[in-house]
Amino acid sequence: MAEQSQAQGNLGSLRVLLGVSGGIAAYKAAELVRRLRDAGAEVRVVLTENAARFVTPLTFQALSGQPVRTGLWDEAAEAAMGHIELARWARRIVIAPASADLIARLAHGFADDLLTTLCLASAAPLALAPAMNQQMWAHAATQANVATLRARGVDVLGPAAGSQACGEFGAGRLLEADTIIAELAALHGPKLLVGTSVLVSAGPTFEDIDPVRFIGNRSSGRMGFAVAQAAAEQGASVHLVAGPVHLPTPAGVVRIDVRSARDMREAVMLQIPQSNIYISSAAVGDFRPNDVATHKLKKNGSEFVLTLTENPDILAAVAALKKRPFVVGFAAETHNVEGYARAKLERKKLDLIAANRVGNGEGFDTCDNEILLLSRDGSERLARADKLALARQLVTRIAERYTAQASASKRAPARKARAGKERSAR
Ligand code: PMT
Repeated sequence: MAEQSQAQGNLGSLRVLLGVSGGIAAYKAAELVRRLRDAGAEVRVVLTENAARFVTPLTFQALSGQPVRTGLWDEAAEAAMGHIELARWARRIVIAPASADLIARLAHGFADDLLTTLCLASAAPLALAPAMNQQMWAHAATQANVATLRARGVDVLGPAAGSQACGEFGAGRLLEADTIIAELAALHGPKLLVGTSVLVSAGPTFEDIDPVRFIGNRSSGRMGFAVAQAAAEQGASVHLVAGPVHLPTPAGVVRIDVRSARDMREAVMLQIPQSNIYISSAAVGDFRPNDVATHKLKKNGSEFVLTLTENPDILAAVAALKKRPFVVGFAAETHNVEGYARAKLERKKLDLIAANRVGNGEGFDTCDNEILLLSRDGSERLARADKLALARQLVTRIAERYTAQASASKRAPARKARAGKERSAR
């Protein structure tokens, strides 16, 4: 499987204004400057006053090769309206780390220091890589601020989960520099799926027992919605068949809501003839009750037996079609992840399978995930990251494979015709 991919980062000569806010992760921004420059970007750095307490402007000046600004009240720089010049220069603003306080001030449109002023004064797209204590990240105020910024088109990169400088464990770590670069490359690189139709399934299915009860599972839909968003970002026309979840539809994606596995199968099969790629990330219920009671079932003080029937396997049915799209499955496994996933890849005749470990707080209903991507000829591990970051990497790999396969099958008839001509000339 291709080790090097566009997602690993070529930023051309993108002009990046890197904002650093105050927090212990500020020291990691120094490495990010180096990596941005290695990826070809021109970098100018602005520190908040609090960031300058953690790392000196001199460090960033040495690494970026450019003067570093920390405040609005720099008379020499502002004589030539320095902040406006910087705002116009930037083609991308990245704030890493973005503290809870900075996110709150941006969400409310404050312009009370140089960095927030630049964010308002610049037309450049803004990306934030949050870093903070896990409680602060999970707080409803922070989540509401992040949702406000996302709705305004701000790209939120991460955060990752793991052990934190404060000794706690959870979501709130700054993404690694390489992951930030890969995400920026995905946002700024050439769009890999223009002219391609992608169908994604996401979320659980609910199998009704009676008018008030159902059999469901723990899928939140986050992974599949992130995959749909990542495919749309790559220029694809995306249809998303969603089981019952409470998530907003990603921008530019057409959503079809369904409830049961059979509803999902119908919606998927209707859309398949128009699709070039099918990505099945839904946690489709394997079984449904034989009969759905029309009235609420009553206790009768004794055992209650529910007889189940197997649901259709949507993924296998799509892969078995004569005229089939490029087919990507997921495998949710609690153990022997690679072994079971490889067996599914082969049994269901898939082009790729994204295997993830589930159970014990992993995979289902989490913000982050880790994937082992398997093809017939190899495997690649996509390291733990938040689901959107991971989905962007996954979609890049799918696009590369799909494009290679599509151009090989375009070349095949021409090769066959040439061979035929040569045979008849002999
Ligand atoms: O939604 P989240 O909370 O973000 O969680 C994400 C996830 C864990 C649900 C996701 O990453 C994932 O693993 N999705 C697949 C879950 C699953 O049903 O796995 P499976 O190993 O049982 O099925 C294998 C494949 O067959 C899957 O692609 C599944 O969509 C497909 N399938 C399964 C059964 C069925 N009847 N029809 C199918 O199409």
